[in-house]
Amino acid sequence: MDIFRTKSVEQSMHDTEAPEHQLRKRLTAVDLTVFGIGVIVGTGIFVLTGQVAKELAGPAVALSFVVAAIVCGLAALCYAEFASTIPVAGSAYTFAFATLGEFPAWIIGWDLMLEMALAAAVVAVGWSGYFASLLNSIGINLPAWMAGDDPVVNLPAMIIVLILTAILIAGIKISSRVNLVIVAIKVTVILLVIVAGLFFINAANYAPFIPPSTPLPSDEGLTAPLIQVLFGITPVAFGVLGIFSAAAIVFFAFIGFDIVATAAEETIEPQRDMPRGIIGSLVICTILYVAVSLVVVGMQKYTELSSSAPLADAFTSVGQNWAAALISIGAIAGLTTVVMILMLGQTRVLFAMCRDGLLPRPLAKVNQRTGTPVVLTAIVGAVSAALAGLISLSALAELVNIGTLFAFVVVSAGVIILRRTRPDLHRAFKAPLVPVLPVVSVLACLYLMLNLPVETWLRFVIWMLIGAVLYFFYGYRHSTIAGYRSTSVKP
Ligand code: ALA
Repeated sequence: MDIFRTKSVEQSMHDTEAPEHQLRKRLTAVDLTVFGIGVIVGTGIFVLTGQVAKELAGPAVALSFVVAAIVCGLAALCYAEFASTIPVAGSAYTFAFATLGEFPAWIIGWDLMLEMALAAAVVAVGWSGYFASLLNSIGINLPAWMAGDDPVVNLPAMIIVLILTAILIAGIKISSRVNLVIVAIKVTVILLVIVAGLFFINAANYAPFIPPSTPLPSDEGLTAPLIQVLFGITPVAFGVLGIFSAAAIVFFAFIGFDIVATAAEETIEPQRDMPRGIIGSLVICTILYVAVSLVVVGMQKYTELSSSAPLADAFTSVGQNWAAALISIGAIAGLTTVVMILMLGQTRVLFAMCRDGLLPRPLAKVNQRTGTPVVLTAIVGAVSAALAGLISLSALAELVNIGTLFAFVVVSAGVIILRRTRPDLHRAFKAPLVPVLPVVSVLACLYLMLNLPVETWLRFVIWMLIGAVLYFFYGYRHSTIAGYRSTSVKP
């Protein structure tokens, strides 16, 4: 039983040419960068900034964003190398198939569902919250059964997911246009926060920049971070360690640059433009995040920041009430594109898995008119809508972080492996300082994973076990590599 059979880079590239599985190549470096910003800027900056400044880092939250950006930057360089070497839709899944083998690749594909489909549902629920509060501010109150803290069916969340699904089905270029317009709105709002906020900064709010560390009441049992259970470390808030704990949380704000890689097959010149899109969007978002967090903690004392709407609240605190509605619109716009591109990424990874036979192959059929995998997109939309509408998801949000970090670990390790096994491949972009850089990337991601709670680890392990069972019952037997099915790949 060879569960570590690999799929050669040439075979992966060849599969992208089969007419029934051909995605339309329409995207440029600018499209990719805007895609990246569309999916990266969301809940993280609009919500988490206040929460972590208040509870863990103080004004030094800006440094937490820098730490998280460095961890993501290391992984981004590895993603950029892979995406320019193997420009195929599946991102980390395809990279793992080329390096570690079929079973690890399946596991990564399965894992990415936590990052994408689950995150799409989680962010859609957040979208619904902002939407309801905006309607509320103009005097329209949605009934409690469909919106609010504990609705029976979260109707706005379901509807937004279904509308975005329809746009994704209509075509990659249309999706990219819609994304461009909405990203323009959210970036304008963020720039406005930065520029307008500068006038209301009070230097006294920055002191102390790194508040003295204070021990946190240690969490017991399943909610304690794994690192604490394993090594008996007592968690602290503030101080230098607080900056790192906060970094593990604001990591969520950077999730998404990796999803740019899933659009590799739809990019006109992926070798050149993938690295630009991945690294460019990460750099732009880092600059925006550091600037926003510095402004927000300068406007309002960190102890007084709002945990749910820190940007709007900082303006209200200095008497600028006009900003709150505008920032809500920015947040709604922001979360809309996050949901859309997470679903886009999810369909592209599933598409690659179906094309390889690890999931039913007919699902990977591309509609000739729209150039998109219509059936798969509809399935992803329906599942995400059902999750967003019917299940209370807040407890599952940390699963998104662990799922993403695990993919970063595999991709970083994969760069070292592919350099050894296929030194001959043309690499349009090469990550610097290999193997040191990928090793540091793996260690940094593992460190952040260890900071997640025990219950998140348990859920993660259970999800992976379900995936493993499915692989042995279906994927292993139907894999096109094994030759059980007719395949367009000629040996
Ligand atoms: N990075 C995305 C956000 O912050 C997931 O919402």
